[in-house]
Order: sequence, then C-alpha cells, then structure tokens
Amino acid sequence: MKSERPVVVGIDIGTTKICTLVGREEVSGQLQILGVGIEPAQGIKKGVIVDLAAASQAVKRSIERAERTSGMEINAALVSVAGAQVSSTNSRGVVGVSGRVIDQEDILRAIESARAIPIPHNREILHVIHRGFTVDGQEGIRMPVGMHGYRLEVETHIITVSASSTENLRQCVSFSGVEVSQFVLNPLAAAEVALTEAERQMGVLLCDIGGGTTDLALYSEGDVWYTAVLAVGGNHITSDIAQGLHLPTSQAEQIKIQHGHAIQSEVDKREMFVIKPFGENEAVEISRAELADIIEARVEEIFTLVLQELKRSGYDGLLPAGVVLTGGSSLLPGMRTMAHRVLGVPVRIARPEGLLGMADRLNSPAFATSVGLLKWAYLYNEFLPLEPKKGSFGPTKSHQAWEVMKEWLRRLLP
Ligand SMILES: Nc1ncnc2c1ncn2[C@@H]1O[C@H](COP(=O)(O)OP(=O)(O)OP(=O)(O)O)[C@@H](O)[C@H]1O
Ligand SMILES: [Mg+2]
Repeated sequence: MKSERPVVVGIDIGTTKICTLVGREEVSGQLQILGVGIEPAQGIKKGVIVDLAAASQAVKRSIERAERTSGMEINAALVSVAGAQVSSTNSRGVVGVSGRVIDQEDILRAIESARAIPIPHNREILHVIHRGFTVDGQEGIRMPVGMHGYRLEVETHIITVSASSTENLRQCVSFSGVEVSQFVLNPLAAAEVALTEAERQMGVLLCDIGGGTTDLALYSEGDVWYTAVLAVGGNHITSDIAQGLHLPTSQAEQIKIQHGHAIQSEVDKREMFVIKPFGENEAVEISRAELADIIEARVEEIFTLVLQELKRSGYDGLLPAGVVLTGGSSLLPGMRTMAHRVLGVPVRIARPEGLLGMADRLNSPAFATSVGLLKWAYLYNEFLPLEPKKGSFGPTKSHQAWEVMKEWLRRLLP
C-alpha cells in the first residue's frame, strides 16, 4: 500500500487577503485540507509589501489560525509572489554533447547556459521553466535523455523578481518563525488548480484577477510560454465606485459585491438601491445601471490591458482553449461576458474543486492560488517538514536558488 504523503503548507499573500493552508495529498490524488487561516491583508498594495510591520502581523494571524485549525506547528511554507517587480523573458541554452548519449548533466548544463542572461544585481531568478529541447536541429523533443547527439538546445522561460520584494516577503513570514521553502509566481500556482491538461496543450491563458493585481500565465503545448503581472484589480473597481458615487471605500466595496455588474446593458434600469454618500444627511437612491456603468469602464480597461499583454506575447489569436479566469474579481457578474467581448475567445471561470476536509470556504475562484501552492509542492516534490530542518531550502541568492532547482531537476529527470 502507498504510504501517507507528507503534509505541505502554502501561504498566499494577496493584496486583500492572506490565506495559509495546510494540506496533504491522499492516495486518491485528492487534496485533504487540514488547516485554514484566512485573514484580511494589511500593508500590501498591488501585490507588494508597503508596510512590513502591518503585513507581518496579518501574516502571523493567518499562520496562527492555520496552526490552530490543523493542530500542527508550521515551520516552513511555499509563498506566492506577484506584483510589479516580476518580469519574464525567454532564453535559449546551447551545449555540445559530442556524439554520445545525452544524460541528466547535459540537460542541467543546457539549462544553466540558458540561465546565463544578464540580470541586474538587484533581481533574482524565481523560476526557470524548460519547455522543449532541440537535438542536432530536431525541434520539439520533450526529454532527450538517452538520445544521441552533438548539439543540445533548450528553450526556457525565465521569471525574475526584485530581490528586495522577496526579501521583504521572507522577513514578513519569518516574523512568525516560518521559513520560505520556495517562492511561486501567483498565476503558476493558480494554473495548477484551474487548467486542464487538454487546455494547456491547446493553448490557454490563465488570468487571475485579484484585489491589486491581474496575473497572467500563457500555456501552449503543455508548457508555460509567457507570464506577466499587471498592477490592476478589483480594488481599482472599488475606488472608481467610491469616487464616482462619493462613498467611503468600505461602502463602495460592499455595494460592488451586493449590486455590481460588469455589463451595464444586462442590468434592469428600474433596479434601485440606497447609498449614503459623503455630504448627504439622507440616504439616496441610485440605479444599478449607474453603478454598472462605472464598473464596466474599469473592467473593459482591465481586459484591454490583458489583450495588450497577449499581443506582446505574440500569442493573440493562438488560444484555442481561450481564457480561464480565477481570482476574487472573477465573481463579479458579467466578467465572463466582458472578457469574451474584449478578448474574442472562449472564457470560463475556475475554482478549486474536489477538495476534502476543511474545504468550505475555499470553493471560490479567489482561492485558486492558495490551493495551487499546495499542488505545486507535490508537483516539485517539495515536501515541507513541520519541524525545523537543517540546511533546508531557501533560495536567498540566485546561485542558491539554482542549486535548489538543480536538485529538483535531478529528481524529476528520468
Ligand atoms: N462577489 C464579488 N463580486 C465582485 N468582486 C468580488 C467579489 N468577491 C470578491 N471580489 C473582489 O475580489 C478581490 C479580491 O480577490 P482575491 O482574493 O483573489 O485577491 P488577492 O489575492 O487578495 O489579491 P491579489 O492577488 O491581487 O494580490 C477584491 O477586489 C474583491 O472586491
Ligand atoms: Mg491573489
């Protein structure tokens, strides 16, 4: 019988919420959620820490809650990364093999050569994703180990992030005595929950619209081809409502969730609700269509920015499987329609499914990244001890990160 799999921990540090999850993969392949800690975020703007003390306290509350609900002590976790400091590029690595059989070390050398791109000293490599090899000019080889050849090339997607933003995240988590075992780019974690293998093969865009950021990851032929983080999200919709209707942000957020719609023409013009704007003693009635008008402009803008990114990636018109939306803002009625209208491809909304245990609150597109972190841990064999571990992972420097990555690759390669 297969033995029980190790317990893993993910901390999704979002602009509006911090979500710590403790989970374990069952023999059936389903995720059992053992502990949940969801807390409102503080000190984070557009996915980036702007107040370390406030953010650390919020993260602490989330971790403590996950510890209480799981009855376990958390010492290490995977942590999500987003924000404007993320950027990505494609790079090709080439090495000579001199006619012998290609082995693991050749693959690592090829990937190492792809990594040798100039990176400013204040940035570090977050992920190196290899997606296909070429042996002696023969393209599209998925795994060349065991083949003969003279020249091995690898195509990679390299994601870098500002070293200070990961350092701040690391500090924020270590305030609770928790070590970061790996950072994972938000949309890559969400994709593990949201996308099917068929979609990834066909060509699909994962689009996670959260509070402060819209995170994109484009997959084709099974691999990641493009990633981007846009600094817009649901909070911008809320602040447009607050400004347009002269409301405090908290009230604007509440009416967005209660009455909001992304398509004005789909709302009945006679539908009214009451608000209490600044400078008014009495509550005033406004129509739902007026609210939708404000929201529609911003949502259209968000998807137009997504379209621009798609064009930049060179993949627009090449997404047979369309777009899959996650993130809390995809709950806004009309989002699917607007996405389809602007992007012109099929659109669906995804949420974590098939979870066991404490999964009630996680059944929302807002938790795709949080649950995705747990899946990522198993995918990369990244088992996190719940006791402190000597010499554990923690890619503080780019070189160290590469050493960790090499170790994973060794394990993954045949
Ligand atoms: N029912 C709803 N209708 C409209 N918007 C919603 C709804 N529920 C949540 N949202 C919006 O979703 C956003 C939060 O989404 P999410 O939890 O995915 O963000 P986050 O992970 O904290 O932030 P980010 O990933 O951008 O850093 C908020 O702007 C919130 O207003
Ligand atoms: Mg998020």
